[in-house]
Amino acid sequence: MEVLIVDDPGTVVADAIAQHVQPGAVLGLATGSSPLPVYRELIDRHTRSELSLAGVRAFTLDEYVGLAQSHAESYHSVIRREFTDHIDLDRVDGPDGEAKDIPAEAARYEAAIVEAGGIDVQLLGIGTDGHIGFNEPGSSLMSRTRVKTLTQQTREDNARFFDSVDDVPHHVLTQGLGTILDAGHLVLIATGSSKANAVAAAVEGPVAAFCPASVLQLHQHVTVVVDPPAAAQLRLAAYYRFTAENKPDWQRF
Ligand code: F6R
Repeated sequence: MEVLIVDDPGTVVADAIAQHVQPGAVLGLATGSSPLPVYRELIDRHTRSELSLAGVRAFTLDEYVGLAQSHAESYHSVIRREFTDHIDLDRVDGPDGEAKDIPAEAARYEAAIVEAGGIDVQLLGIGTDGHIGFNEPGSSLMSRTRVKTLTQQTREDNARFFDSVDDVPHHVLTQGLGTILDAGHLVLIATGSSKANAVAAAVEGPVAAFCPASVLQLHQHVTVVVDPPAAAQLRLAAYYRFTAENKPDWQRF
């Protein structure tokens, strides 16, 4: 696992994603606030004709169950508004939270990712309770796409996107931790002091379902990109900084 503590995580994560971009590549996209600077940076590069996502497709991590796709805060809407409507990506798919048969939809989504050849690079945010995707504490480290119930903490964190916390759905359809681990390269972005405890637990804590993001420690190729406030609880911060400053030129993300 590489841990990068930088002032501008959005640009660094955009570099990490861009290195995978080529026709036929499959990107895994996250929603929420953390990836927004990454998406803005990738869109800017596209606008300047420095980056094309032609021939690239994408899958999102998760979706609220029971929220209409047309709702402004469905992740179907959010990913299009914030990213894919502004770049030449071939297509983006997400789990259908309106499906009548949710277990069947979960199985369909898993199969669609496999049919696409698997995800080359998966962008991740992290919840204040350590979730990735919407795999809340207690999620099986081997889990596949399925329905999950959001914790009250996550619903309160996400209330800013809705009129009130009561409007935040209780249920979500999310890629499982096992699904996420199948991607070739995992890139996690976290910013702000509210993420400091979760980042430390994920990177330096024990691998435990209580902190779902700690499962990243089991993957062979992980890049964690954090700003200094999000890095504030990392015990080995000086080592991560030294490692990054002395990284051999030939070594990529
Ligand atoms: C969203 C997702 C979640 C978020 C996490 C952090 O697709 O998978 O894991 O990444 O809840 O959300 P923000 O970035 O809004 O703090």
